[in-house]
Amino acid sequence: MAEPKTNELMEKIVSLCKRRGFIFQSSEIYGGINGFWDYGPLGAELKKNIRDCWWNDMVRSRDDVVGIESSIIMHPKVWEASGHVGGFTDPMVDCKASKQRFRADQIFFAAVVVDGKIAGYVSALESERIAEELQEKAEALKRKKAIQGKLEPVKAQDFTEAKPDEIPLIPSPATGEPGSLTPPRAFNMMFETYVGALRDESAIAYLRPETAQGMFADFKAVLDTGRVKIPFGIAQIGKSFRNEITPRNFIFRSREFEQMEMEYFISDQDDWQKWHRYWIDWCRNWLLSVGVPASQLSEYNHPKEKLAFYSKGTTDIMFRYPFGEQELWGIAARGDYDLSQHAKASGASLAYFDEAAKRQYVPHVIEPAVGVDRIMLAILCSAYCEDQAPDEKGKLESRVVMKFHPRIAPIKVAIFPLLKNKPELVKKAQEVRNLLRPQMTVFYDEAGAIGRRYRRQDEAGTPFGVTIDFDTLGEKPELLNTVTLRDRDTMKQERVKIEELVPLLSGKIR
Ligand code: GAP
Repeated sequence: MAEPKTNELMEKIVSLCKRRGFIFQSSEIYGGINGFWDYGPLGAELKKNIRDCWWNDMVRSRDDVVGIESSIIMHPKVWEASGHVGGFTDPMVDCKASKQRFRADQIFFAAVVVDGKIAGYVSALESERIAEELQEKAEALKRKKAIQGKLEPVKAQDFTEAKPDEIPLIPSPATGEPGSLTPPRAFNMMFETYVGALRDESAIAYLRPETAQGMFADFKAVLDTGRVKIPFGIAQIGKSFRNEITPRNFIFRSREFEQMEMEYFISDQDDWQKWHRYWIDWCRNWLLSVGVPASQLSEYNHPKEKLAFYSKGTTDIMFRYPFGEQELWGIAARGDYDLSQHAKASGASLAYFDEAAKRQYVPHVIEPAVGVDRIMLAILCSAYCEDQAPDEKGKLESRVVMKFHPRIAPIKVAIFPLLKNKPELVKKAQEVRNLLRPQMTVFYDEAGAIGRRYRRQDEAGTPFGVTIDFDTLGEKPELLNTVTLRDRDTMKQERVKIEELVPLLSGKIR
């Protein structure tokens, strides 16, 4: 399906990700598969660092959160109880002419009203400039039909709001002609599979569409074994799968993605708003700690009338992606809905007994839920930078630099012997590599001019470069066993003793 045109920055990021081995299209040699992505050598490191930072801060550094890893395929009744079998749907629309499929809430339309009369309809796919696009199309329609009179400003609505008699009049975004769009119908996004040798109804199981239900299904097991006391959380990181109707915007919305979710269980009598705020702030601060700038973040409170009936409140931390401000992290107050549903469906007691108060109750939940891939995209977008750097002869040339926070940079330090045809330099550089390697990810590069090697690491986002030169070998005796340490962002170099490198760099990357 044709992707809506994203801006130039997004194209540059996608191209850099491919060129430098961050992200590839899955199964590319077979033409690719829509909504699935592979992470290359740099991408896999970056993603692992995001996961590790979150796990460290969310689980290991706290007394009140424990981690689990539940299976991807769970008992199908889990998904009946959670409401996913009945209601995990998106409204889908087919274009009968082009055979394309759309999410109804991503098609926008407007009546073209001239002198108070409807002259036709225009439509467009969701984008940053939907209102302008519809207005331009309305003006074009008025011109095409040679209608005189005053064109009213268009009022954009999404296709789920279209009245039955409007549907045949709304042009398909694929063909520009009306009459081919079907009314929206619910499409369940869970991927089905079969467990065991039989392929009948009784063997149907689902790839999990969220990791959260693993925490609810294991609540009792953790309670019985984990020595946890309310308030406490259960966290996990893992793959989730959704058969998205329109996967798009690179890794922003894919069909296979990874989530980092935490269910924080509180007393039914506790102040949920206090905990909700606490976790919104925690998530925001965590994003800042991995280098997402505050200026790109905002909060969106879901309006009360659009919340699920059990939800007390949901706030999304939004990130300004190049294709628009979009949900990055959702923090939901889910009441006791999930535990009560699973207790009812399974027959197990999922209540908590408060020893001090001698009282039993079903805990309420605050859930911060985020996608690793969405954080990664936010980090890639925030880190991308173009500036000027001097080449070998001091002439300024433009460079692309990924300004990753050292905490999450895929490679922490690059090691460069000044020349590759001087065995003494190479030997010393390899010694430095071996010294640093147990402590951090290092990349050894001896190929090409030193300036070009710096540039390659700038694009990979490596925050530090260590160059071994003739002074390292003692050409100037007072500089024996010192190296130059280059800072990626300032491009400044300082002379550092080899023996000081490990403590110095370890401090900078943690
Ligand atoms: N347990 C609640 C839950 O899963 P959600 O808002 O559907 O809530 C949580 O998903 C987070 O997972 C989102 O904020 C987003 O970061 C990520 N996410 C959801 N669908 C995604 C997709 N198709 N591709 C990539 N990330 C996705």
